[in-house]
Amino acid sequence: MDAHACFPEWLRKTAIYQIFPASFQDSNGDGIGDLRGILSRLDYIRDLGFETVWLSPIFASPFQDAGYDVSDYRMIAPRYGTMADFEALIAGLHQRGMKLLLDFVPGHTSIRHPWFAESSRHGRNPYSDRYVWTDTTFYCGGKGTGPGQFINGHGERDGNYLANFFYFQPALNYGYADPDPGRPWQMPTDHSSVRSLKQEMFRILRFWLDKGVDGFRVDMAASLVKSNDPAKARAAMIDFWHEVRQWWDRDYPEAALIAEWSNPSEAIEAGFHVDFMIHFEGASYMKVFRGENKYTIFDRGDVSYFNPEGKGELQTFLRELQGHRAYIGNRGLISIPTGNHDLPRYSRDRSEAELKNILTFLFTLPSVPTLYYGDEIGMRSPDDLPSKEGAYRRTGARTPMQWDGTDGCGFSAASEEDFYLPVDPSPDRPSVDAQLARGDSLLHHTKRLIALRSEYTELGSEAPLRQLNAPNAPYPVVYLREANGSRTLIAVNPLRETKTAKLTSPVTVKKVLLGEARIAGAATTAEIELPPVSSAILHLG
Ligand code: NOJ
Repeated sequence: MDAHACFPEWLRKTAIYQIFPASFQDSNGDGIGDLRGILSRLDYIRDLGFETVWLSPIFASPFQDAGYDVSDYRMIAPRYGTMADFEALIAGLHQRGMKLLLDFVPGHTSIRHPWFAESSRHGRNPYSDRYVWTDTTFYCGGKGTGPGQFINGHGERDGNYLANFFYFQPALNYGYADPDPGRPWQMPTDHSSVRSLKQEMFRILRFWLDKGVDGFRVDMAASLVKSNDPAKARAAMIDFWHEVRQWWDRDYPEAALIAEWSNPSEAIEAGFHVDFMIHFEGASYMKVFRGENKYTIFDRGDVSYFNPEGKGELQTFLRELQGHRAYIGNRGLISIPTGNHDLPRYSRDRSEAELKNILTFLFTLPSVPTLYYGDEIGMRSPDDLPSKEGAYRRTGARTPMQWDGTDGCGFSAASEEDFYLPVDPSPDRPSVDAQLARGDSLLHHTKRLIALRSEYTELGSEAPLRQLNAPNAPYPVVYLREANGSRTLIAVNPLRETKTAKLTSPVTVKKVLLGEARIAGAATTAEIELPPVSSAILHLG
Protein backbone atom coordinates (compact mmCIF):
# COMPACT_ATOMS: atom_id res chain seq x y z
CA MET A 1 0.00 0.00 0.00
CA ASP A 2 1.50 3.40 -0.86
CA ALA A 3 1.59 6.13 1.74
CA HIS A 4 -1.41 7.98 0.30
CA ALA A 5 -3.80 5.26 -0.78
CA CYS A 6 -6.18 3.75 1.72
CA PHE A 7 -6.27 0.41 -0.03
CA PRO A 8 -3.76 -1.90 -1.73
CA GLU A 9 -2.76 -0.53 -5.13
CA TRP A 10 -3.58 -3.76 -6.99
CA LEU A 11 -7.27 -3.39 -6.11
CA ARG A 12 -7.41 -0.23 -8.17
CA LYS A 13 -6.79 -2.10 -11.40
CA THR A 14 -8.23 -5.52 -10.85
CA ALA A 15 -11.43 -7.26 -11.88
CA ILE A 16 -12.78 -10.08 -9.69
CA TYR A 17 -14.04 -13.49 -10.82
CA GLN A 18 -16.25 -15.22 -8.24
CA ILE A 19 -16.24 -19.00 -8.15
CA PHE A 20 -18.78 -21.20 -6.41
CA PRO A 21 -16.30 -24.06 -5.84
CA ALA A 22 -18.71 -27.00 -5.94
CA SER A 23 -19.79 -26.10 -9.47
CA PHE A 24 -16.78 -24.84 -11.37
CA GLN A 25 -14.57 -27.78 -12.35
CA ASP A 26 -14.30 -31.29 -10.94
CA SER A 27 -10.84 -32.86 -11.23
CA ASN A 28 -11.32 -36.22 -9.52
CA GLY A 29 -14.57 -37.45 -11.04
CA ASP A 30 -16.71 -37.32 -7.89
CA GLY A 31 -19.17 -34.86 -9.44
CA ILE A 32 -18.20 -31.94 -7.16
CA GLY A 33 -15.92 -29.12 -8.23
CA ASP A 34 -12.61 -28.87 -6.39
CA LEU A 35 -9.40 -26.86 -5.97
CA ARG A 36 -7.39 -28.86 -8.51
CA GLY A 37 -10.19 -28.24 -10.97
CA ILE A 38 -9.98 -24.50 -10.37
CA LEU A 39 -6.20 -24.65 -10.79
CA SER A 40 -6.66 -26.25 -14.21
CA ARG A 41 -8.83 -23.32 -15.33
CA LEU A 42 -6.69 -20.40 -14.19
CA ASP A 43 -5.38 -19.66 -17.68
CA TYR A 44 -8.96 -19.31 -18.87
CA ILE A 45 -9.78 -16.80 -16.13
CA ARG A 46 -6.60 -14.83 -16.68
CA ASP A 47 -7.10 -14.77 -20.46
CA LEU A 48 -10.50 -13.17 -19.91
CA GLY A 49 -8.64 -10.42 -18.04
CA PHE A 50 -9.57 -11.22 -14.42
CA GLU A 51 -6.61 -11.06 -12.08
CA THR A 52 -8.47 -11.79 -8.87
CA VAL A 53 -10.36 -14.94 -7.94
CA TRP A 54 -12.81 -15.00 -5.04
CA LEU A 55 -13.79 -18.45 -3.80
CA SER A 56 -17.01 -18.95 -1.87
CA PRO A 57 -16.18 -20.91 1.33
CA ILE A 58 -13.82 -23.88 0.98
CA PHE A 59 -13.54 -24.77 4.67
CA ALA A 60 -14.63 -27.90 6.50
CA SER A 61 -18.41 -27.80 6.83
CA PRO A 62 -21.48 -30.03 6.97
CA PHE A 63 -22.63 -27.94 3.96
CA GLN A 64 -26.11 -27.17 5.20
CA ASP A 65 -25.58 -23.67 3.73
CA ALA A 66 -23.08 -24.56 0.98
CA GLY A 67 -20.11 -23.93 3.29
CA TYR A 68 -21.36 -20.71 4.91
CA ASP A 69 -21.66 -22.96 7.97
CA VAL A 70 -18.06 -23.61 8.92
CA SER A 71 -17.07 -26.46 11.24
CA ASP A 72 -13.29 -25.88 11.11
CA TYR A 73 -11.89 -22.54 9.95
CA ARG A 74 -8.40 -23.90 9.41
CA MET A 75 -9.22 -26.97 7.37
CA ILE A 76 -9.94 -27.34 3.66
CA ALA A 77 -13.19 -29.24 3.09
CA PRO A 78 -12.12 -32.73 1.98
CA ARG A 79 -14.49 -32.59 -0.98
CA TYR A 80 -12.50 -29.62 -2.31
CA GLY A 81 -9.07 -31.17 -1.70
CA THR A 82 -6.21 -30.98 0.77
CA MET A 83 -4.05 -28.22 2.18
CA ALA A 84 -1.43 -29.25 -0.42
CA ASP A 85 -3.99 -28.67 -3.17
CA PHE A 86 -4.75 -25.29 -1.67
CA GLU A 87 -1.06 -24.37 -1.61
CA ALA A 88 -0.75 -25.48 -5.24
CA LEU A 89 -3.69 -23.24 -6.13
CA ILE A 90 -2.15 -20.19 -4.46
CA ALA A 91 1.17 -20.90 -6.17
CA GLY A 92 -0.60 -21.29 -9.52
CA LEU A 93 -2.36 -17.97 -9.08
CA HIS A 94 0.73 -16.10 -7.97
CA GLN A 95 2.84 -17.51 -10.82
CA ARG A 96 0.30 -15.94 -13.16
CA GLY A 97 0.34 -12.61 -11.32
CA MET A 98 -3.15 -13.32 -9.97
CA LYS A 99 -4.65 -12.87 -6.50
CA LEU A 100 -6.79 -15.05 -4.26
CA LEU A 101 -9.65 -13.90 -2.05
CA LEU A 102 -11.21 -16.32 0.42
CA ASP A 103 -14.63 -16.02 1.97
CA PHE A 104 -14.43 -15.33 5.70
CA VAL A 105 -17.57 -16.10 7.70
CA PRO A 106 -17.01 -14.49 11.11
CA GLY A 107 -20.64 -14.03 12.21
CA HIS A 108 -21.57 -17.63 12.84
CA THR A 109 -20.38 -21.21 12.65
CA SER A 110 -22.19 -24.44 11.94
CA ILE A 111 -23.97 -26.08 14.88
CA ARG A 112 -21.50 -28.89 14.17
CA HIS A 113 -18.49 -26.76 15.04
CA PRO A 114 -16.74 -28.25 18.12
CA TRP A 115 -16.97 -24.83 19.81
CA PHE A 116 -20.73 -25.02 19.59
CA ALA A 117 -20.84 -28.59 20.91
CA GLU A 118 -18.93 -27.36 23.99
CA SER A 119 -21.04 -24.24 24.23
CA SER A 120 -24.23 -26.34 24.29
CA ARG A 121 -23.13 -28.28 27.38
CA HIS A 122 -24.67 -27.89 30.81
CA GLY A 123 -21.44 -27.16 32.70
CA ARG A 124 -19.47 -23.94 32.30
CA ASN A 125 -16.44 -24.34 30.05
CA PRO A 126 -14.17 -22.07 27.97
CA TYR A 127 -16.74 -22.05 25.12
CA SER A 128 -19.85 -21.29 27.18
CA ASP A 129 -19.80 -17.61 26.17
CA ARG A 130 -18.58 -18.12 22.61
CA TYR A 131 -22.10 -17.80 21.20
CA VAL A 132 -25.03 -15.59 22.14
CA TRP A 133 -27.21 -17.58 24.57
CA THR A 134 -30.08 -16.47 26.78
CA ASP A 135 -30.01 -17.69 30.38
CA THR A 136 -33.06 -19.92 30.23
CA THR A 137 -34.76 -21.99 27.57
CA PHE A 138 -38.09 -20.59 28.68
CA TYR A 139 -37.24 -17.03 27.74
CA CYS A 140 -37.48 -16.16 24.06
CA GLY A 141 -34.69 -13.60 24.04
CA GLY A 142 -36.78 -10.59 23.21
CA LYS A 143 -37.38 -8.73 20.01
CA GLY A 144 -35.09 -6.53 17.95
CA THR A 145 -31.90 -7.91 19.35
CA GLY A 146 -30.27 -9.05 16.14
CA PRO A 147 -30.89 -10.25 12.64
CA GLY A 148 -32.01 -13.73 13.65
CA GLN A 149 -34.24 -15.72 15.94
CA PHE A 150 -33.54 -17.32 19.28
CA ILE A 151 -33.65 -21.11 18.97
CA ASN A 152 -34.86 -23.15 21.90
CA GLY A 153 -34.50 -26.79 22.80
CA HIS A 154 -31.00 -27.43 21.52
CA GLY A 155 -28.69 -29.57 23.66
CA GLU A 156 -28.51 -29.82 27.42
CA ARG A 157 -27.84 -26.14 28.09
CA ASP A 158 -30.71 -24.24 29.67
CA GLY A 159 -30.79 -21.35 27.22
CA ASN A 160 -31.69 -20.31 23.68
CA TYR A 161 -29.07 -19.46 21.13
CA LEU A 162 -29.28 -16.68 18.59
CA ALA A 163 -29.29 -17.82 14.95
CA ASN A 164 -27.40 -15.42 12.69
CA PHE A 165 -28.94 -16.69 9.45
CA PHE A 166 -30.38 -20.22 9.26
CA TYR A 167 -31.19 -22.03 12.52
CA PHE A 168 -28.01 -24.10 12.22
CA GLN A 169 -25.78 -20.99 12.10
CA PRO A 170 -25.46 -19.85 15.73
CA ALA A 171 -24.23 -16.28 16.16
CA LEU A 172 -20.75 -15.98 17.58
CA ASN A 173 -20.68 -13.67 20.57
CA TYR A 174 -19.12 -10.31 19.72
CA GLY A 175 -21.16 -8.75 22.49
CA TYR A 176 -23.88 -6.14 22.54
CA ALA A 177 -23.29 -2.48 21.79
CA ASP A 178 -25.82 -1.55 24.48
CA PRO A 179 -26.26 -4.54 26.77
CA ASP A 180 -29.55 -4.51 28.64
CA PRO A 181 -28.81 -4.70 32.39
CA GLY A 182 -32.03 -6.70 32.78
CA ARG A 183 -30.61 -9.36 30.46
CA PRO A 184 -27.18 -10.10 31.85
CA TRP A 185 -26.48 -12.63 29.08
CA GLN A 186 -26.06 -9.65 26.73
CA MET A 187 -22.36 -9.04 27.20
CA PRO A 188 -20.48 -5.80 26.60
CA THR A 189 -18.11 -5.75 23.66
CA ASP A 190 -15.09 -5.59 25.98
CA HIS A 191 -16.09 -8.69 27.98
CA SER A 192 -13.14 -11.06 28.31
CA SER A 193 -15.00 -13.88 26.49
CA VAL A 194 -15.79 -11.53 23.60
CA ARG A 195 -12.17 -10.43 23.50
CA SER A 196 -10.92 -13.99 23.35
CA LEU A 197 -13.30 -14.80 20.46
CA LYS A 198 -11.98 -11.76 18.59
CA GLN A 199 -8.39 -12.82 19.15
CA GLU A 200 -9.21 -16.30 17.86
CA MET A 201 -10.85 -14.89 14.72
CA PHE A 202 -7.84 -12.63 14.15
CA ARG A 203 -5.56 -15.67 14.44
CA ILE A 204 -7.67 -17.45 11.81
CA LEU A 205 -7.30 -14.51 9.42
CA ARG A 206 -3.55 -14.47 10.04
CA PHE A 207 -3.36 -18.24 9.44
CA TRP A 208 -4.61 -17.80 5.86
CA LEU A 209 -2.82 -14.52 5.22
CA ASP A 210 0.44 -16.21 6.24
CA LYS A 211 -0.28 -18.87 3.62
CA GLY A 212 -0.27 -16.11 1.02
CA VAL A 213 -3.98 -15.39 0.67
CA ASP A 214 -4.41 -11.90 -0.83
CA GLY A 215 -7.53 -10.93 1.07
CA PHE A 216 -11.06 -11.82 2.09
CA ARG A 217 -14.63 -11.20 1.19
CA VAL A 218 -16.25 -10.96 4.62
CA ASP A 219 -19.67 -12.56 4.91
CA MET A 220 -22.36 -10.43 6.62
CA ALA A 221 -19.64 -8.06 7.75
CA ALA A 222 -22.06 -5.79 9.60
CA SER A 223 -23.68 -8.58 11.58
CA LEU A 224 -21.15 -9.25 14.34
CA VAL A 225 -21.91 -6.93 17.26
CA LYS A 226 -25.56 -7.09 18.31
CA SER A 227 -27.64 -4.26 19.63
CA ASN A 228 -31.09 -3.26 20.65
CA ASP A 229 -30.57 -0.16 18.49
CA PRO A 230 -29.33 -0.49 14.87
CA ALA A 231 -27.41 2.82 14.95
CA LYS A 232 -25.45 1.68 17.99
CA ALA A 233 -24.73 -1.71 16.39
CA ARG A 234 -23.31 0.09 13.36
CA ALA A 235 -21.08 2.30 15.48
CA ALA A 236 -19.83 -0.77 17.33
CA MET A 237 -19.15 -2.55 14.02
CA ILE A 238 -17.11 0.43 12.89
CA ASP A 239 -14.98 0.18 16.06
CA PHE A 240 -14.58 -3.55 15.49
CA TRP A 241 -13.22 -3.27 11.96
CA HIS A 242 -11.03 -0.32 12.90
CA GLU A 243 -9.32 -2.63 15.36
CA VAL A 244 -8.74 -5.12 12.53
CA ARG A 245 -7.28 -2.42 10.29
CA GLN A 246 -4.72 -1.51 12.94
CA TRP A 247 -2.87 -4.82 12.75
CA TRP A 248 -3.85 -5.39 9.13
CA ASP A 249 -2.16 -2.19 7.87
CA ARG A 250 0.94 -2.96 9.87
CA ASP A 251 1.31 -6.68 9.06
CA TYR A 252 -0.58 -7.30 5.79
CA PRO A 253 -0.78 -3.96 3.98
CA GLU A 254 -1.07 -5.66 0.59
CA ALA A 255 -4.09 -7.75 1.53
CA ALA A 256 -7.65 -6.73 0.64
CA LEU A 257 -10.59 -6.47 3.03
CA ILE A 258 -13.85 -6.62 1.11
CA ALA A 259 -17.22 -6.38 2.79
CA GLU A 260 -20.56 -7.94 2.19
CA TRP A 261 -22.29 -4.92 3.74
CA SER A 262 -24.10 -3.27 0.82
CA ASN A 263 -23.59 0.19 2.18
CA PRO A 264 -20.18 1.39 0.95
CA SER A 265 -20.25 4.63 2.94
CA GLU A 266 -20.55 2.69 6.19
CA ALA A 267 -18.31 -0.20 5.22
CA ILE A 268 -15.46 2.01 4.03
CA GLU A 269 -15.88 4.18 7.13
CA ALA A 270 -15.50 1.00 9.14
CA GLY A 271 -12.19 0.23 7.46
CA PHE A 272 -13.03 -2.01 4.53
CA HIS A 273 -11.20 -1.37 1.29
CA VAL A 274 -14.13 -2.37 -0.91
CA ASP A 275 -17.83 -2.99 -0.37
CA PHE A 276 -20.35 -4.65 -2.66
CA MET A 277 -23.50 -2.79 -3.63
CA ILE A 278 -25.88 -5.74 -3.79
CA HIS A 279 -29.40 -6.92 -3.06
CA PHE A 280 -29.77 -6.00 0.61
CA GLU A 281 -32.94 -4.46 1.94
CA GLY A 282 -33.54 -0.96 0.65
CA ALA A 283 -30.68 -1.11 -1.87
CA SER A 284 -31.19 0.09 -5.43
CA TYR A 285 -29.09 -2.64 -7.06
CA MET A 286 -32.12 -4.76 -7.91
CA LYS A 287 -33.77 -1.93 -9.81
CA VAL A 288 -30.95 -1.85 -12.31
CA PHE A 289 -30.61 -5.46 -13.27
CA ARG A 290 -33.50 -7.39 -11.77
CA GLY A 291 -36.75 -6.69 -9.99
CA GLU A 292 -38.13 -3.83 -8.02
CA ASN A 293 -36.87 -4.89 -4.61
CA LYS A 294 -35.32 -7.68 -2.60
CA TYR A 295 -38.44 -9.81 -2.82
CA THR A 296 -39.23 -9.44 -6.50
CA ILE A 297 -35.80 -10.54 -7.74
CA PHE A 298 -36.98 -14.11 -7.80
CA ASP A 299 -40.17 -13.33 -9.70
CA ARG A 300 -40.34 -13.73 -13.43
CA GLY A 301 -40.66 -10.65 -15.58
CA ASP A 302 -38.08 -7.91 -15.78
CA VAL A 303 -39.02 -4.53 -14.36
CA SER A 304 -35.49 -3.21 -14.28
CA TYR A 305 -33.91 -0.34 -16.20
CA PHE A 306 -32.62 -2.87 -18.74
CA ASN A 307 -36.08 -4.06 -19.63
CA PRO A 308 -36.32 -3.42 -23.41
CA GLU A 309 -39.80 -1.93 -23.05
CA GLY A 310 -38.54 0.74 -20.68
CA LYS A 311 -40.25 -0.48 -17.53
CA GLY A 312 -37.56 0.47 -15.06
CA GLU A 313 -35.60 3.44 -13.84
CA LEU A 314 -31.94 4.11 -13.18
CA GLN A 315 -31.78 7.39 -11.28
CA THR A 316 -32.20 5.90 -7.81
CA PHE A 317 -29.23 3.63 -8.37
CA LEU A 318 -27.04 6.31 -9.95
CA ARG A 319 -27.88 8.74 -7.17
CA GLU A 320 -26.95 6.16 -4.56
CA LEU A 321 -23.74 5.24 -6.34
CA GLN A 322 -22.72 8.89 -6.74
CA GLY A 323 -23.56 9.56 -3.10
CA HIS A 324 -21.36 6.72 -1.91
CA ARG A 325 -18.50 7.69 -4.25
CA ALA A 326 -18.62 11.29 -3.04
CA TYR A 327 -18.64 10.19 0.59
CA ILE A 328 -15.82 7.66 0.41
CA GLY A 329 -13.58 9.64 -1.98
CA ASN A 330 -10.19 7.97 -2.20
CA ARG A 331 -10.67 6.00 1.02
CA GLY A 332 -12.11 2.93 -0.68
CA LEU A 333 -13.80 1.34 -3.64
CA ILE A 334 -17.20 -0.03 -4.59
CA SER A 335 -17.92 -3.26 -6.40
CA ILE A 336 -21.13 -3.79 -8.36
CA PRO A 337 -21.26 -7.45 -9.34
CA THR A 338 -23.03 -9.16 -12.24
CA GLY A 339 -24.61 -11.43 -9.66
CA ASN A 340 -23.62 -13.96 -7.04
CA HIS A 341 -24.60 -17.29 -5.53
CA ASP A 342 -27.59 -15.71 -3.76
CA LEU A 343 -29.43 -14.27 -6.77
CA PRO A 344 -31.00 -15.52 -9.99
CA ARG A 345 -28.52 -14.92 -12.78
CA TYR A 346 -28.74 -11.66 -14.68
CA SER A 347 -29.34 -13.63 -17.89
CA ARG A 348 -32.87 -14.54 -16.83
CA ASP A 349 -35.31 -13.73 -19.68
CA ARG A 350 -32.67 -11.72 -21.54
CA SER A 351 -31.07 -11.90 -24.99
CA GLU A 352 -27.33 -11.83 -25.61
CA ALA A 353 -27.60 -8.21 -26.85
CA GLU A 354 -29.26 -7.23 -23.59
CA LEU A 355 -26.56 -8.96 -21.57
CA LYS A 356 -23.85 -7.19 -23.55
CA ASN A 357 -25.50 -3.89 -22.71
CA ILE A 358 -25.62 -4.70 -19.02
CA LEU A 359 -21.96 -5.68 -19.01
CA THR A 360 -20.99 -2.52 -20.90
CA PHE A 361 -22.77 -0.51 -18.21
CA LEU A 362 -21.34 -2.48 -15.27
CA PHE A 363 -17.76 -2.54 -16.50
CA THR A 364 -17.69 1.21 -17.19
CA LEU A 365 -18.98 2.32 -13.78
CA PRO A 366 -16.68 3.61 -11.03
CA SER A 367 -16.58 0.09 -9.58
CA VAL A 368 -14.28 -2.89 -9.20
CA PRO A 369 -16.08 -5.21 -11.61
CA THR A 370 -16.98 -8.58 -10.13
CA LEU A 371 -18.30 -11.30 -12.39
CA TYR A 372 -19.99 -14.42 -11.10
CA TYR A 373 -18.68 -17.56 -12.85
CA GLY A 374 -20.62 -18.34 -16.01
CA ASP A 375 -22.03 -14.83 -16.39
CA GLU A 376 -19.41 -14.22 -19.10
CA ILE A 377 -21.29 -16.72 -21.28
CA GLY A 378 -24.77 -15.84 -20.05
CA MET A 379 -25.37 -19.09 -18.16
CA ARG A 380 -29.00 -19.31 -17.08
CA SER A 381 -30.59 -20.11 -13.74
CA PRO A 382 -32.81 -23.15 -14.30
CA ASP A 383 -36.10 -22.79 -12.40
CA ASP A 384 -37.64 -25.09 -9.85
CA LEU A 385 -34.61 -27.16 -8.94
CA PRO A 386 -34.97 -28.88 -5.57
CA SER A 387 -32.97 -27.04 -2.95
CA LYS A 388 -29.34 -28.07 -2.63
CA GLU A 389 -27.44 -27.43 0.60
CA GLY A 390 -29.68 -24.66 1.87
CA ALA A 391 -29.85 -22.86 -1.46
CA TYR A 392 -33.65 -22.93 -1.94
CA ARG A 393 -34.44 -20.34 -4.62
CA ARG A 394 -30.74 -19.70 -5.05
CA THR A 395 -30.15 -23.23 -6.40
CA GLY A 396 -30.55 -22.32 -10.07
CA ALA A 397 -27.64 -19.87 -9.86
CA ARG A 398 -25.28 -22.61 -8.70
CA THR A 399 -25.39 -25.14 -11.55
CA PRO A 400 -22.19 -26.59 -13.11
CA MET A 401 -20.03 -24.37 -15.30
CA GLN A 402 -20.66 -25.01 -18.99
CA TRP A 403 -17.26 -25.51 -20.54
CA ASP A 404 -18.21 -27.36 -23.72
CA GLY A 405 -21.06 -28.83 -25.75
CA THR A 406 -20.94 -32.36 -24.29
CA ASP A 407 -23.72 -33.73 -22.11
CA GLY A 408 -21.87 -33.01 -18.87
CA CYS A 409 -20.56 -29.68 -20.23
CA GLY A 410 -16.96 -30.66 -19.45
CA PHE A 411 -17.62 -30.06 -15.77
CA SER A 412 -16.87 -33.55 -14.48
CA ALA A 413 -16.08 -37.09 -15.58
CA ALA A 414 -18.70 -38.43 -13.15
CA SER A 415 -21.99 -39.66 -14.51
CA GLU A 416 -24.48 -36.84 -14.60
CA GLU A 417 -26.70 -38.18 -11.83
CA ASP A 418 -23.71 -37.74 -9.50
CA PHE A 419 -23.18 -34.07 -10.37
CA TYR A 420 -23.43 -31.59 -7.50
CA LEU A 421 -26.37 -30.09 -9.39
CA PRO A 422 -27.76 -30.95 -12.82
CA VAL A 423 -26.46 -28.92 -15.74
CA ASP A 424 -28.85 -26.43 -17.34
CA PRO A 425 -31.15 -28.73 -19.36
CA SER A 426 -31.98 -26.22 -22.13
CA PRO A 427 -30.88 -27.41 -25.58
CA ASP A 428 -29.40 -24.01 -26.45
CA ARG A 429 -27.40 -23.58 -23.26
CA PRO A 430 -24.26 -21.50 -23.87
CA SER A 431 -20.75 -22.91 -23.48
CA VAL A 432 -17.27 -21.51 -23.19
CA ASP A 433 -16.02 -23.44 -26.23
CA ALA A 434 -18.79 -22.18 -28.50
CA GLN A 435 -18.33 -18.60 -27.33
CA LEU A 436 -14.55 -18.68 -27.66
CA ALA A 437 -15.08 -19.70 -31.29
CA ARG A 438 -17.53 -16.86 -32.02
CA GLY A 439 -15.91 -13.43 -32.21
CA ASP A 440 -19.07 -11.48 -31.33
CA SER A 441 -20.00 -13.59 -28.29
CA LEU A 442 -20.72 -12.33 -24.80
CA LEU A 443 -17.46 -13.92 -23.67
CA HIS A 444 -15.42 -11.87 -26.14
CA HIS A 445 -17.42 -8.78 -25.21
CA THR A 446 -16.46 -9.33 -21.54
CA LYS A 447 -12.84 -9.68 -22.54
CA ARG A 448 -12.93 -6.47 -24.61
CA LEU A 449 -14.49 -4.50 -21.78
CA ILE A 450 -11.82 -5.59 -19.30
CA ALA A 451 -9.08 -4.77 -21.81
CA LEU A 452 -10.55 -1.28 -22.40
CA ARG A 453 -10.77 -0.73 -18.69
CA SER A 454 -7.09 -1.37 -18.25
CA GLU A 455 -6.09 0.65 -21.30
CA TYR A 456 -8.15 3.76 -20.43
CA THR A 457 -7.61 4.76 -16.79
CA GLU A 458 -10.78 6.82 -16.80
CA LEU A 459 -12.82 3.63 -17.20
CA GLY A 460 -11.36 2.31 -13.94
CA SER A 461 -12.80 1.98 -10.47
CA GLU A 462 -12.26 5.56 -9.27
CA ALA A 463 -12.58 8.24 -11.95
CA PRO A 464 -15.72 10.35 -11.48
CA LEU A 465 -18.85 9.66 -13.47
CA ARG A 466 -20.78 12.61 -14.92
CA GLN A 467 -24.22 11.81 -16.24
CA LEU A 468 -24.99 13.62 -19.49
CA ASN A 469 -28.58 12.62 -20.20
CA ALA A 470 -31.25 14.54 -18.33
CA PRO A 471 -32.91 12.46 -15.59
CA ASN A 472 -36.31 13.11 -17.24
CA ALA A 473 -34.95 11.63 -20.50
CA PRO A 474 -33.81 8.30 -19.06
CA TYR A 475 -33.17 6.41 -22.32
CA PRO A 476 -30.39 6.11 -23.34
CA VAL A 477 -28.21 6.66 -20.32
CA VAL A 478 -25.11 8.67 -21.24
CA TYR A 479 -22.16 9.39 -18.99
CA LEU A 480 -18.66 10.65 -19.11
CA ARG A 481 -15.66 9.23 -17.28
CA GLU A 482 -12.59 11.38 -16.99
CA ALA A 483 -9.13 10.96 -15.48
CA ASN A 484 -5.92 12.91 -16.03
CA GLY A 485 -7.43 14.84 -18.92
CA SER A 486 -8.48 11.69 -20.78
CA ARG A 487 -12.23 11.41 -21.39
CA THR A 488 -14.47 8.58 -22.50
CA LEU A 489 -18.19 8.73 -23.09
CA ILE A 490 -20.50 5.76 -22.61
CA ALA A 491 -24.04 5.53 -23.97
CA VAL A 492 -26.37 2.59 -23.37
CA ASN A 493 -29.76 2.05 -24.98
CA PRO A 494 -31.68 -0.86 -23.42
CA LEU A 495 -34.82 -0.22 -25.51
CA ARG A 496 -36.15 -2.16 -28.47
CA GLU A 497 -36.20 1.04 -30.53
CA THR A 498 -33.51 3.34 -31.88
CA LYS A 499 -32.80 6.18 -29.48
CA THR A 500 -30.86 9.36 -29.93
CA ALA A 501 -28.93 10.85 -27.08
CA LYS A 502 -28.95 14.64 -27.17
CA LEU A 503 -25.92 16.05 -25.40
CA THR A 504 -25.98 19.45 -23.72
CA SER A 505 -22.78 20.44 -25.54
CA PRO A 506 -21.07 18.90 -28.58
CA VAL A 507 -18.25 16.42 -28.13
CA THR A 508 -15.47 15.43 -30.48
CA VAL A 509 -15.14 11.69 -30.88
CA LYS A 510 -11.53 10.61 -31.34
CA LYS A 511 -12.18 6.91 -31.49
CA VAL A 512 -15.10 4.51 -31.26
CA LEU A 513 -13.82 1.99 -28.73
CA LEU A 514 -16.85 -0.25 -28.79
CA GLY A 515 -20.33 -0.34 -30.22
CA GLU A 516 -22.39 0.70 -33.17
CA ALA A 517 -23.22 4.33 -32.42
CA ARG A 518 -23.92 6.47 -35.47
CA ILE A 519 -22.36 9.84 -35.06
CA ALA A 520 -24.26 12.52 -36.99
CA GLY A 521 -22.14 14.43 -39.48
CA ALA A 522 -18.48 14.89 -38.62
CA ALA A 523 -16.81 13.50 -35.55
CA THR A 524 -17.97 16.52 -33.54
CA THR A 525 -21.56 15.99 -32.54
CA ALA A 526 -24.19 16.74 -29.97
CA GLU A 527 -26.25 13.72 -30.97
CA ILE A 528 -25.52 10.04 -30.70
CA GLU A 529 -27.90 7.61 -32.31
CA LEU A 530 -28.02 4.15 -30.80
CA PRO A 531 -29.71 1.21 -32.57
CA PRO A 532 -32.13 -0.92 -30.51
CA VAL A 533 -30.51 -2.64 -27.50
CA SER A 534 -27.00 -1.34 -28.09
CA SER A 535 -24.29 0.68 -26.47
CA ALA A 536 -21.24 2.68 -27.40
CA ILE A 537 -17.97 3.58 -25.74
CA LEU A 538 -16.41 6.64 -27.36
CA HIS A 539 -13.00 8.04 -26.54
CA LEU A 540 -13.01 11.84 -26.67
CA GLY A 541 -9.30 12.38 -26.10
C1 NOJ B 1 -24.40 -14.39 2.78
C2 NOJ B 1 -23.97 -15.43 1.80
O1 NOJ B 1 -23.70 -14.84 0.56
C3 NOJ B 1 -25.08 -16.46 1.74
O2 NOJ B 1 -24.88 -17.38 0.70
C4 NOJ B 1 -25.17 -17.14 3.07
O3 NOJ B 1 -26.28 -18.04 3.05
C5 NOJ B 1 -25.37 -16.13 4.20
N1 NOJ B 1 -24.52 -14.98 4.08
C6 NOJ B 1 -25.10 -16.76 5.54
O4 NOJ B 1 -23.72 -16.92 5.74
